[in-house]
Amino acid sequence: MKKVLIANNKGGVGKTTVASQIVYTLADRGHSVIGVDLDSQRNFTGAFEGVKDLGNALDLVTRGTPIKADVNAAEIGILSGHKDLLAQNSDDLLVNVRNGLFQSRGADFCVIDAPPSFSEVVYGALLGSDYLLVPIELKRFSLDGIEGVLEAFIAAQEHNPGLELLGLLPSRFDAVKQVERDALVTVANSFERLLVPHAIRNRTAYVQAQDVGVSLAEIKTRSGREAAAEFGAFFDWFYAKVTGESDHGAQPHRHVG
Ligand SMILES: Nc1ncnc2c1ncn2[C@@H]1O[C@H](COP(=O)(O)OP(=O)(O)OP(=O)(O)O)[C@@H](O)[C@H]1O
Ligand SMILES: [Mg+2]
Repeated sequence: MKKVLIANNKGGVGKTTVASQIVYTLADRGHSVIGVDLDSQRNFTGAFEGVKDLGNALDLVTRGTPIKADVNAAEIGILSGHKDLLAQNSDDLLVNVRNGLFQSRGADFCVIDAPPSFSEVVYGALLGSDYLLVPIELKRFSLDGIEGVLEAFIAAQEHNPGLELLGLLPSRFDAVKQVERDALVTVANSFERLLVPHAIRNRTAYVQAQDVGVSLAEIKTRSGREAAAEFGAFFDWFYAKVTGESDHGAQPHRHVG
């Protein structure tokens, strides 16, 4: 099971939106997917009404209980967020989350949505994941903030050498705003090789899809079609990175849980 953590220690940058669309797209293309909501806000959970219920993340965090699921091809299972996740504060959290994720089984992919600050829970998720994707906002962004995330990644990689940084994904990007275009150039100059070669633009379709809890393909407006095409291009890049193969949506994949 390939485990992908979506994290940034900054709030409101589009982590949950990107994470949920990745889950929908993986399932649409025939994969079994587990979504894990480590955020007490439960926004990610809210985008998955009616999917297979795998319980909530509190046992993973407080006891290190791994996910033992059996998610079918093209199916989504969710380990829900819990309001008490924020209140958890113990030295064991990091080890619990690391071990729990490490031993989790039951789908081709596991996509983990992180809360907006780097707590023990997020460090544990970094130690138990295979890939890290970092959505960044170019409005009010700071290079210091990105450096903080990269330092956390490097520290985690010392203990989890298999952890790979997929990159910094410009998110909620407003290309009309000069200040955001300038910020993108600054990031590209400072972290050239770390920038994902795609951007998620600021579009109402992302908000609608997130609110209703559907894939972008379900948003039948111009914004929906543009967002679906843009996200699809990003997804193809993402998929090739995490599997080493390209995916054109036709072949349902074998369950490799
Ligand atoms: N590409 C986008 N275009 C327009 N709005 C977006 C886009 N991505 C996210 N949003 C909106 O921005 C807000 C924050 O997005 P989201 O919840 O995905 O961010 P987050 O990083 O998970 O936030 P938090 O740190 O609180 O968990 C939401 O209202 C969401 O609908
Ligand atoms: Mg979120």
